[in-house]
Amino acid sequence: APDISVTAVKAHLTQLQSIATANGGNRAHGRPGYLASVTYVKGLLDAAGYTTTQQSFTYNGATGYNLIADWPGGNTSNTLMIGAHLDSVTAGPGINDNGSGSAANLEVALAVARAGYQPTRHLRFGWWGAEELGLRGSTAYVNSLTTAQKSAITGYLNFDMVGSPNPGYFLYDGDNSDNTGSGPGPAGSALIEQTLADYYATIGVPTRGTDFDGRSDYGPFIAAGIPAGGIFTGAEGRKTAAQVTLWGGTAAAFDPCYHASCDTISNINDTALDRNSDAIAYAVWTLSGGGTTPTT
Ligand code: PHE
Ligand code: CA
Ligand code: ZN
Ligand code: ZN
Ligand code: ZN
Repeated sequence: APDISVTAVKAHLTQLQSIATANGGNRAHGRPGYLASVTYVKGLLDAAGYTTTQQSFTYNGATGYNLIADWPGGNTSNTLMIGAHLDSVTAGPGINDNGSGSAANLEVALAVARAGYQPTRHLRFGWWGAEELGLRGSTAYVNSLTTAQKSAITGYLNFDMVGSPNPGYFLYDGDNSDNTGSGPGPAGSALIEQTLADYYATIGVPTRGTDFDGRSDYGPFIAAGIPAGGIFTGAEGRKTAAQVTLWGGTAAAFDPCYHASCDTISNINDTALDRNSDAIAYAVWTLSGGGTTPTT
């Protein structure tokens, strides 16, 4: 898998910050900063050779949008999806939540194109609208699929908050091995969790399980029986003393700017964003039938 440039991921975050600043300070559902965010991501994917679809839905009297990007080729009956929500709350620009997952996935998608990668499985990326209002975009997407189309999606990777300023390294506990009380997920979720864990093992960074309870856009996918997994660096929860020993940082909130106006370009831990971007690339390549060379 390629080494994803954290500089390139941060350049996307700078663009999302500028979009928020130019549009009343947020990128929320129904606000102009949301559609501008979709337009930014779509332009780069179209130029890279993706087939993109902007799917509309209505929630709370406003039109919302999902952006779906298919990389041509691969077995479409064995599709690996990679997703992130692109909306923010109205309080702020949403750079960690969830510019981080959106930008990391975007740069992985662009790396797929640059590599001319031809995986065995079909790859489809999704950027979801209105997650912050109750997983509205991802729910609309899954509900729009026929039974056969749902069966064709054989895995879903979700990235929501992957650059928290006081980060933990949490993997959705798809195998319930961490006894978070919320797993196990659909069969196949354990393999996704293990693949992400393998990457962290190669760089010597410990991981822990986190609730696999549907508190992000993987919820509608696992409800449809689709195996899923993902990474999370923490939100309003506080890092414990034991977690400070494990990961460094401070015994305070993982993200003190969660859902706040200070979730800006300054609210990112570059090391966490770099590791997680590389982990996403590793998982996409490994799970889609490509190379397995880890990068740092
Ligand atoms: N979905 C939550 C939000 O956007 C963040 C979150 C992600 C919480 C993953 C738990 C696990 O606010
Ligand atoms: Ca990197
Ligand atoms: Zn989020
Ligand atoms: Zn949020
Ligand atoms: Zn686990």
